[in-house]
Amino acid sequence: MLTHQQLGTFVDAAASADGAQPREPLRIAVIGTGYLGAVHAACMAYQGHHVVAVDSDAGKVAALAAGRPPFFEPGLEELLAEVAPTGRLTFTTDYALTAGSDVFFLCVGTPQQQGGYAADTSYVYASARSVAPYLTSESLVVGKSTVPIGTASAVHAAMAELARQGVTVRLLWNPEFLREGVAIQDTLHPDRFVYGVQGATAEADIALLDRVYAASLADGTPRVVTDYVTAEMVKTAANSFLATKISFINAMAEICEAAGGDVVKLAEAIGHDERIGRKFLGAGVGFGGGCLPKDIRAFRARAEELGLGQSLAFLREVDGINQRRRDRVVDLVAQLSGGDHTGVRVAILGAAFKPHSDDVRDSPALTIATALQERGAQVRVFDPKAMANAKQVAPQLQYAVDLWDACVDADVVAVLTEWPEFRSADPVALAAVVRRPVVIDGRNALPGSAWTAAGWTYHALGRATAETAEPRKDTQS
Ligand code: UGA
Repeated sequence: MLTHQQLGTFVDAAASADGAQPREPLRIAVIGTGYLGAVHAACMAYQGHHVVAVDSDAGKVAALAAGRPPFFEPGLEELLAEVAPTGRLTFTTDYALTAGSDVFFLCVGTPQQQGGYAADTSYVYASARSVAPYLTSESLVVGKSTVPIGTASAVHAAMAELARQGVTVRLLWNPEFLREGVAIQDTLHPDRFVYGVQGATAEADIALLDRVYAASLADGTPRVVTDYVTAEMVKTAANSFLATKISFINAMAEICEAAGGDVVKLAEAIGHDERIGRKFLGAGVGFGGGCLPKDIRAFRARAEELGLGQSLAFLREVDGINQRRRDRVVDLVAQLSGGDHTGVRVAILGAAFKPHSDDVRDSPALTIATALQERGAQVRVFDPKAMANAKQVAPQLQYAVDLWDACVDADVVAVLTEWPEFRSADPVALAAVVRRPVVIDGRNALPGSAWTAAGWTYHALGRATAETAEPRKDTQS
C-alpha cells in the first residue's frame, strides 16, 4: 500500500487510512479510462470525491473494477486498492450512472488521424454528446483531452444542441500535463492548473473546479485562467517546446558524432545555464509515445488550416531530427557489422517508448527493431513491462524472455529504452553470452567506461569518446 506521503497528502489534516475526506466532496464523472482517465478518476476518489468512471470498453472497465489496471502505471494498482474499500470509485460502461454529477471530466484520447497529421477528435465529440443529456445548469463539463484550437467552442455548441431544454451548458477546458510513469504524482501535485473559460458562467465554473482541486490549490499549485483558445494552445505549445528541446540536443548529437564531441558533456555544460536548464536534454533515439509525436504534427496541421503553416514549419524539422536518430541506429548496426544487416543478430533492449511504462505507441525501440528486421537482421526484443503490447503491434518480431535470453549469441546489443535493469546490467557477465561484444547505447544511459573495460566496443549516440563515457544523469523529468 502506498503511504499518503507517496501519494500526496490531502488538504484536510483529518486524513484517515481509508483516504482523505475533502471538506466538500463532489460527485464526479470521468469519461474515458485510459492512462489519463483511470489515473484522474483514482486520484479524485483518493482525494475524497465520489467518482463514476465510464468507458465503452467493457474489458477495460471490468479490469479496473477488479483493481487490475489494463496498462502499467507505477502505483495505480496500489491506489485502486486503497480507494476500493471507501466505495467512492465506480467503473462502468453505463453513462446513466453519471446522472447527478457535479463535474463531468472528458478524458478521452485524440490520436493522430489515419492517413493524416491532424488529431482525431471524434472521441471527444462522442463523449460530449454522451454526457449532454445528463447535464443540468448546475453541472460543469471539464475537457482534459489535448485538442486542436477551436475544439472547445465546437464541443460547447454540440452539447448545447443535445442538452435538455432550459439547461445552460457550462464547459471549461483544463488540459492535463501528466507524464506516463509518474502520472499519479503529476495528478496530485501538478506544476500548474490551466482553466480555459468562456461565457457568462465563467466565474461560477472557476469556483466549482476550484472545489474539485481544493487539495492541490491549497498546496500552492499555480492556476492560470484564460480563454478556450489559449488553454488549448498551452498544452500543444508545452509539448512542442519539450519536443524541440529534445530534437535540439539530438541535432547537437549529430554534429558531435561527425566532429568528435561529447553531447552528454555539452548538455551538462549548457544545462548549467538556468535559462536553458538540464531537463529534457537527454540525447539518444529521441521522443516517442502517444503524445509528443502526434501533438507536434496535429499542431502543425491546425496551423496550416489557419493559414499559418510557416509559424510552425520548424516543427517539421523537430520531427525530422527525431526520425533521423532512429535511422542512425539502423545504419550503425550495419556499420558495426561489416556494412550489411543480413543475418546480423541484434538484441534490442527496450520496447516501451520510455522506462516505467508499457506504452509502445510510436516507440523508437520498436521502429528500429522493425527496420532492422526488414533489412535482414535477426532481432530479439526484450522489455520488462511492454512485451504484451509490443507483441500486439509488432507480432512479426522475435521476443526474448529476459535480458540474458535477448543477448545470447548477439552480434550487437542495442539499449533503446533506459530501464534501470539495463542501465545496471553487468557488462562482464553479458560479454560471456554474446557472440561479439558490441553495444549501442541508444539513450546515453550506460557507464561506457565500465563496458569498454569489460571488452565491449561501446557506441553511444552523439559521443565519439567511449573510454571516458559516463552515463547521463536521469534528466527525463
Ligand atoms: C508528455 C509530456 O511530458 C507531458 O507533460 C504531457 O502531459 C504528455 O506528454 C501528454 O501530452 O499527455 P509523456 O509522453 O508521458 O509526457 O513522456 P515524456 O516524459 O514527456 O517523454 C516523451 C519522450 O521523450 C520519451 O520517448 C522519452 O524517452 C523522450 N525523451 C525525454 C528524450 O528522448 N530525452 C529527454 O531528455 C526526455
